[in-house]
Amino acid sequence: MSAIITISNLEKTYATGHQALKDINLDIAHGEIFALLGPNGAGKTTLISIVCGLVTPSGGMVRVNGYDIVTQYRAARSQIGLVPQELTTDAFETVWNTVSFSRGLYGKPANPAHIEKVLRDLSLWDKKDNRLRTLSGGMKRRVMIAKALSHEPTILFLDEPTAGVDVSLRKGMWEMVRSLRAAGVTIILTTHYIEEAEEMADRIGIIHHGSLVLVEEKATLMRKLGKKQLTLRPQTPLTRVPTALASWPLVLTDKGDLVYSYDTRQEHTGIPDLLATLSNEGIALKDLETSQSSLEDIFVDLVREQA
Ligand SMILES: Nc1ncnc2c1ncn2[C@@H]1O[C@H](COP(=O)(O)OP(=O)(O)OP(=O)(O)O)[C@@H](O)[C@H]1O
Ligand SMILES: [Mg+2]
Repeated sequence: MSAIITISNLEKTYATGHQALKDINLDIAHGEIFALLGPNGAGKTTLISIVCGLVTPSGGMVRVNGYDIVTQYRAARSQIGLVPQELTTDAFETVWNTVSFSRGLYGKPANPAHIEKVLRDLSLWDKKDNRLRTLSGGMKRRVMIAKALSHEPTILFLDEPTAGVDVSLRKGMWEMVRSLRAAGVTIILTTHYIEEAEEMADRIGIIHHGSLVLVEEKATLMRKLGKKQLTLRPQTPLTRVPTALASWPLVLTDKGDLVYSYDTRQEHTGIPDLLATLSNEGIALKDLETSQSSLEDIFVDLVREQA
């Protein structure tokens, strides 16, 4: 893997004494989409803010395309586009000026054709002469994305990019992120929408209480932690787990169903035996269904374990 960002032994303790990041080690590969998941206050924004040079680290090192973010700040920062979690916009400026001006801040020569493309891609072209205060929240967020793309960065950070964005626009944004990746941009996003990570990411990192507790290829993660559940719904709801089934890891639900959890990687799931035993016990089934655990279950489990 050729890393475009290298984070080593990164630590952050805020002036309040709160330790927001603990010994973070992470390499971001060239051209990947990396999703950072974690509950509120886990340290996601702190991590992004350090890489973008907005927050000073208390220890450790970050390199962006080879540039040290502290000693070579300008060179490192010029590689990066950031869409911050908090919307900060100049209410009285127009969309066009906001986005063009942002490009200028990076010392890049004006390029109206690029700005036009960015605004069109984000469905903002017809709003280009509107003042920001006249836009909706979702539109303002898209303006933030346009700003972040104005200077043609090679790395894009999206901190909760689709918070407050409606479903159809969210899908549009995913499309845009994919096309950016196809154009060679590396993308790091944080999200509270697990489906977004599931849909978008090549790799997923889970951060909890300031520690990176897991980094994994999405596909591997889904497979490795993939559990399935079989719900057995008897004709007559059960009030207890039958004695003959006591040795099985079954859970009785409020509705009187039995739930059997098994690992999809196991060679023998035990399901035929289970069904045979039920039948021997004279328990007739009305229905049965299986469900696959999602990234959401995996995430909730992990965070619970680490709490
Ligand atoms: N400027 C600051 N001064 C002191 N503590 C801070 C500061 N910024 C963040 N923190 C604390 O650091 C921890 C991590 O905050 P951070 O914003 O990085 O979390 P997050 O994972 O982005 O959360 P969210 O999902 O809510 O955006 C929190 O406990 C927060 O209160
Ligand atoms: Mg945050």
